This record gives sequence, structure tokens and C-alpha cells, in this order.
Amino acid sequence: MKTEVLPAFAGENELNQAAIEKAGTLLRAGEVVAIPTETVYGLAANAYDGEAVSKIFKAKGRPQDNPLIVHIAKVETLSDLVAEVPEAAKKLAAAFWPGPLTIILPKSEKIPDAVSAGLPTVAVRMPSHPVAHAVIEAAGVPLAAPSANLSGSPSPTNAKYVFDDMHDRIPLILDGGSSAVGVESTVITLATERPRVLRPGGVTVEQLRELLGEVDVDDAVLHKLAEGVRAASPGMKYKHYAPRAEITIVKGTLKEFRRFLESKEKDAFVLCFAGEEQYFPRAVTYGEADDGLSQANRLFDALRELDEQGAKTVYARCPQLSGVGLAVYNRLIRAAGFKFVEAV
Ligand code: TXA
Ligand code: MG
Repeated sequence: MKTEVLPAFAGENELNQAAIEKAGTLLRAGEVVAIPTETVYGLAANAYDGEAVSKIFKAKGRPQDNPLIVHIAKVETLSDLVAEVPEAAKKLAAAFWPGPLTIILPKSEKIPDAVSAGLPTVAVRMPSHPVAHAVIEAAGVPLAAPSANLSGSPSPTNAKYVFDDMHDRIPLILDGGSSAVGVESTVITLATERPRVLRPGGVTVEQLRELLGEVDVDDAVLHKLAEGVRAASPGMKYKHYAPRAEITIVKGTLKEFRRFLESKEKDAFVLCFAGEEQYFPRAVTYGEADDGLSQANRLFDALRELDEQGAKTVYARCPQLSGVGLAVYNRLIRAAGFKFVEAV
């Protein structure tokens, strides 16, 4: 199948209506279309059509037991997808939708098993990207969409990276420029006794606690799951976001990092913060040292750039674990296969 790439915008703030309509028509016909969102690009299909959804799994090579997020354009649609809308969900939606937050709740019978991968729950998000919003409206149905990468690769933040992974696998990619956040949405479940963050993202744990009070952070966010432990979020158990290069996270100050590197392979690459590249002959940067949002924005692109430059061994500077930095660390530690060392 030949993959068409269409610009999603006709002018600076004007949508390319013909492209949006084409996406809507394909989606209604049970096809898969890649669309931009503010977090990363998504691979969308009609969430009510199990057969259409199964094409997503095929295109990505995604394990069947990893459920998808359902994307909606209006808050009211939530009540069609879940058994009940609790007070906490209303609060979260009012505070963070549209935006990079996914809420998990017990599902309604409208959700096919293909979407929830057999779980009794469903994940729902209302994206803020105008193209995502317009495509959901044009399709007239909620859209199930995982990130638009091949399973195991970094999530794509622009249409070119989607094309690299998905060409000849899907009929259409809408090009809406670079994703603003750069890492996937925060996932919070309300199906547990206390709200629990399963994946950190652009909406921070601090923000969620301010709104809801006590919020747990799942163990799998920061640590490798022990053998035999069941993942609350199936996606967390897979090696993920992994470039071909072998990455080691080095904890410590810049000074300690530089000293640590002196004893390392001369052809090693460094993944560091902006301004630090002057100290290393082969460096790729990912954002400012104290700014999680700028790091999130660059991380997946930086991982792909390391591959493009042929990096085999990479030593990475460690982000802070607060704010959006927690999401950055969560992705980086998976890209590194949970390998880190202390520089001191
Ligand atoms: O920002 C995002 O969330 C992007 C854009 C496209 O919206 N989507 C995305 O989807 O990152 P995906 O499939 O790559 O990640 C969804 C994560 C996976 O870790 C999956 O296991 C988890 O959410 N998930 C989905 N439904 C779930 C459920 N019912 N219970 C627990 N985890 C769930
Ligand atoms: Mg993904």
C-alpha cells in the first residue's frame, strides 16, 4: 500500500479541510490514519470498530495484550466510553482537557476488546492539537490511537519519523508539524482505590496532587518490573523507546560526568544538555539542564539522531526527577534498558 503524506494546514492557522475530510473518510471506512497530536503522532482508527483497530496492531507490530488510548473531541463523549464518570474524572477533565492527560476508568460495553486488550478498563484522552480535534470530528467517532511508531521504537514527533516507520503500512499521514510536548501523555488510572499515575508526561504528578490530593506513582514508572510481576499498564513492561545505540545513564554533576567519561571509549557519544556539547567531541543535546519541558521536547528526536549518526555507545546526562523531568527520566531509563551508573 502506498502511503500518502498530506499537509494538515493550508495556512498559518488554517486547516487543510480537504486533507482532514480525506482522513475522516478513510477512518469511517475502517482504515488507519496517522495524525499529529500535541504529545506525539498517533496511529488512529475507529475505536468502535474492532476490525479497524486490529489493523493498528498489525501496522505497528504491537503485542496484542497492550491496550490503546481512545481519543475524543468533546468531554461529553467520555460518558459513552466508560461505565461511570466519577467526580475525580470530572475535575481532571475540567483542569487538563484538552491536553496531555489520559484517564483510565472501567469501560462501557461500547469498547471492543481489541481496544482494551481484554482489560475491564479503557484509557481516554482529549487532545488539544487542532488537527487531532478536527479529524475526530470529521470521522464522527472516537479514535483509538497509540503512538505512530513501530512497536519498540521512539515515538514520532513529526511526520517524517512517522513515514520512516509506517510507509507502505498505512494509506495516509497528516503532516501537522512538530509535536509541542514531545513525549506521550500522562496516564492516570481512577480504576484503583487511589488515583495512580501509570506513565508520567506533560501533566505533572505535582499538578495532579494539587488537584486530587493523594496520588500514587506506580513502581514501574521508575523501576524495572521484577520477573513475574504483572504490569498495571501493559506498555510499561516492554523495552521501549529504544534506539539501536546502547545507552547508559550517568548520575552526577557535569563535572563528575566529564571525569567519568575520561576513562571511557574514545568513540562513545554523549547525550547531554544544551551548552554542554563543547566538552565532548560527539554529542547530541536534549534540552536545557533544568527544564524538563525542553528536555521532553527534544528527547525522542535526540534518540533518533544518535541512530542516524551511527552511535554505538552513548553516555547520557541524567534529568531531574521532578515536574516534566520525571517523564523524561521514565522514557530515558527505558531507552537505556534500565542501565545507569553513579559518576562518583
Ligand atoms: O500522548 C499519547 O498518549 C499518545 C498520543 C497519540 O495520544 N498515545 C500513546 O499511546 O502514547 P500508546 O499506545 O503508545 O501508549 C498507551 C499507554 C500504554 O503504555 C498502554 O499500556 C497504556 O497506555 N494503557 C492503555 N489502556 C490502558 C488500560 N486500560 N489500562 C492500563 N494501561 C493502559
Ligand atoms: Mg507508544
